[in-house]
Amino acid sequence: MLPKVLPMTRRRRVFEGKAKVLYEGPEPGTLVQYFKDDASSRDNRKNGTIEGKGVINNRISEYLMLKLGEMGVPTHFVRRLNMREQLVREVDIIPIEVVMRNVAAASFARRFGIAEGTPLPRSIVEFRHNSDELDKPLVTDEHITAFGWASPQELDEIMMLTVRINDYLSGLFFGIGLRLIDLKVEFGRLWEGDDMRIVLADEISPDTCRLWDVKTSEKLDKDRFRQDLGKVAEAYQEVARRLGILPEGVILDVVEKKE
Ligand code: TMP
Repeated sequence: MLPKVLPMTRRRRVFEGKAKVLYEGPEPGTLVQYFKDDASSRDNRKNGTIEGKGVINNRISEYLMLKLGEMGVPTHFVRRLNMREQLVREVDIIPIEVVMRNVAAASFARRFGIAEGTPLPRSIVEFRHNSDELDKPLVTDEHITAFGWASPQELDEIMMLTVRINDYLSGLFFGIGLRLIDLKVEFGRLWEGDDMRIVLADEISPDTCRLWDVKTSEKLDKDRFRQDLGKVAEAYQEVARRLGILPEGVILDVVEKKE
């Protein structure tokens, strides 16, 4: 059995991102992923806090990672530890955000002059390098393989997994009255002795997916925060409620920091 998780202050912080912190795990090869309430837009124009978001995203991501694991997608997820933390396998992160789009939205709709909400002729994959300093630039498979961020074989595996994740989650969300407009996933290399597997890492939550109500097209994701649509907290709660995993007594509210 794994030893009890040490109090946060006594753990070594490995990495701090905008929405999560990674701490050294209780065993070699593990990390503790802590979900913060902080929210920001990609361009950092907007920064704020959605109270309780970390708790909800921890639960949503746990639920979706377990479901994906059950249908054969390898993930870094081990188990949820508490309200805000989950134990994950330490992986060598591939520095690419993989975005799969089913319906035109936001920057993609603007880039191609397509009305938001237009279904795409087929699902389209895009890659971004995950560097915040460079504003996560769009890159192609040529950049990824030429710069050695992933090998052609790894990229094939990533594409195959992303298609399966998108297909499975599209169906899962449709079953609870939500359209999966697009999603962003990240992968890592998991080493077991000399063997290496590509596994799904990071998180899947309304921070990293676009989810619209099937009937009303109401946005139930982080675009409510990015686009100042209001009822941000309610949207996260509604997704968790529909998935049947809303933690008891969690009340969310948006508090935007003054810049
Ligand atoms: P985009 O249309 O803004 O490029 O977003 C594509 C996907 O990436 C969408 O499903 C939401 C996710 N995403 C993030 O994970 N982080 C971000 O900062 C942004 C803007 C989007």
